[in-house]
Amino acid sequence: MPSFESPAPVSHPSSPAIPRQFIATGPLTGRIRVPGDKSISHRSLMLSALAVGESRVTGLLEGEDVLATAAAMRAMGAQIERQADGEWRIHGVGVGGLMQPRTALDMGNSGTSTRLLMGLLASHALTATFIGDASLSRRPMGRVIEPLSRMGADFTGAPGGTLPLTMRGIAPAVPIEYRLPVASAQVKSAVLLAGLNTPGVTTVIEPVPTRDHSERMLRGFGAELTVEIDEAGARVIRLTGEAELRPQTIVVPGDPSSAAFFVVAALLVPGSDLVIENVGLNPTRAGLFDVLRQMGGAIEEVNRRDVGGEPVADLRVRHSALTGIEVDPAIAPSMIDEFPVLFVAAALAKGRTVTRGLDELRVKESDRIAAMHAALTLVGARVTEAEDGLIIDGSDGEPLSGGNNAAVSTHLDHRIAMSMAMAGLASRHGVTVDDTRPIATSFPTFEALLAGAMGT
Ligand code: S3P
Repeated sequence: MPSFESPAPVSHPSSPAIPRQFIATGPLTGRIRVPGDKSISHRSLMLSALAVGESRVTGLLEGEDVLATAAAMRAMGAQIERQADGEWRIHGVGVGGLMQPRTALDMGNSGTSTRLLMGLLASHALTATFIGDASLSRRPMGRVIEPLSRMGADFTGAPGGTLPLTMRGIAPAVPIEYRLPVASAQVKSAVLLAGLNTPGVTTVIEPVPTRDHSERMLRGFGAELTVEIDEAGARVIRLTGEAELRPQTIVVPGDPSSAAFFVVAALLVPGSDLVIENVGLNPTRAGLFDVLRQMGGAIEEVNRRDVGGEPVADLRVRHSALTGIEVDPAIAPSMIDEFPVLFVAAALAKGRTVTRGLDELRVKESDRIAAMHAALTLVGARVTEAEDGLIIDGSDGEPLSGGNNAAVSTHLDHRIAMSMAMAGLASRHGVTVDDTRPIATSFPTFEALLAGAMGT
């Protein structure tokens, strides 16, 4: 096997940590709009970069993770220009037309950029090195290395399949039929994206459905992709390779994973009545809102419509008394990024909330089970950690104490930072988050929107 010298992992962000205290200064009211969906934004840039001609995207999330994808696609030959807020133009190179990047691709904190790009590049005859921050450099890449190696790509790097990693793609790659061993939209998408420049049919079998933005968007760009349900209920996705993608105009809906923080805040802070406009409600993403409604949350969908092939509505959320529940593990993939903020809601509910089947949370930007157990315990919630979830005994609406001198640790994880900010709003003395920098990876306008909604 050829060996490449791997660069040391970079440690982002390089500026010092920015701690901040969060406390409610009033109810959340009025109307807000959260930025574009992160998953859809990544995919818009990648597929546009592979189409022949010019695509336009509006509502693109301009968070650090998506900017890492844009920089990587540029480094491989796509022309990508920002026209105005959220408005981008991409001139694609055609499937198979990506060029060898001259330097390592810096993926920052973004697992989605890393895994999807590994897939995209696996079927191009080029060599690329992927590096990332301390959080990303701990995350498992074996789950994409395994199927992409079967297609013919070759990987060298850190032992245990973590970044930094160097990949040598191959053209033509070998089409495979791959049954997902973990419920992961990133692994599914990596294999499908590798299939784009592979002759023949690449098949992914998905026993548990995960977010389907890749399938929707690949079809939208003109790829031949079919989805069938087999006798066992699994989704069988077939993509015909050597596809020709046609440029598109894409409108990115608001990110339900970002809206989630404001939904929980409005439910928890007395007197709140907040409308969050333009929230993507793809059923493979909207599980949190169903769970919160089951707990008694007043979340109304207004003006349901379709935006860019995705269901969207405005959400009106009012302060509500919540009751703890047992969360069905089957719903986990449709709210996989929302568990940290659900744990906060559960900490204020009446009675016990039990979550199980969440092993995947241990390999996100941080170990989200351990991080939320530690953070919520520090601010006065009653939480028990299990191997695959948390059990939370709620306060029945009583604010958490907060006010501890110690700051909660976010472990370079944007969703821990924002979830604990919401816990601060539901606390008597406020919660200090040790580092708010990671929020910029997915939700750069978070603090400004929050201050606006509370009238400060
Ligand atoms: C994503 C898939 C999920 C999710 C991540 C975004 C995507 O990861 O946690 O934030 O855009 O495909 P997994 O595929 O690891 O579950």
